[in-house]
Amino acid sequence: MFPVIVDVPARCAASVEATAYFVVAEALTNIAKHSGAAHATVTARSRGGRLTLCVEDDGHGGADEHGGSGLTGIRRRVAAHDGTLSLASPPGGPTTLKAELPCGS
Ligand SMILES: Nc1ncnc2c1ncn2[C@@H]1O[C@H](COP(=O)(O)OP(=O)(O)OP(=O)(O)O)[C@@H](O)[C@H]1O
Ligand SMILES: [Mg+2]
Repeated sequence: MFPVIVDVPARCAASVEATAYFVVAEALTNIAKHSGAAHATVTARSRGGRLTLCVEDDGHGGADEHGGSGLTGIRRRVAAHDGTLSLASPPGGPTTLKAELPCGS
C-alpha cells in the first residue's frame, strides 16, 4: 500500500514545488529500486511558512548518500532553498527521508 497524505492549503513558490517534486520522485524511485519495501508513505504538509515532506518505507534500510547521485542531488536542491534534509536508514530499516522547505509567508 502506498498512501499519500497531502495537507498543503496554499501554493509554494514554483521553484520550491519543483524541488518538492524531485525529492518525492527520487525517494520513490529509490524505494522501488533498492528498498525491498512492501509499504511506503508520502506525507506533505505546510504550516507557518514551511513545507514538510516525509517519505517512509518499511524496507531493509541501508540508504547511503555516498552510494549514488540521487540522494546527493536531493540534499543539494534542498540546500539551495535553505531547507533542511534528514535521512534515517538503519540496517534492517525502516527508511525515513524528511525535507523541510520554505513555503509562503
Ligand atoms: N529507500 C532505500 N532503501 C534502501 N536503500 C536505499 C534506499 N534509497 C537509497 N538506498 C541506497 O542508497 C544508495 C544511494 O542512493 P542514490 O539515490 O544516491 O543512488 P542510486 O539510486 O543508486 O543511483 P541514482 O544516481 O540513479 O539515484 C543506493 O544505491 C542504495 O543502495
Ligand atoms: Mg537514486
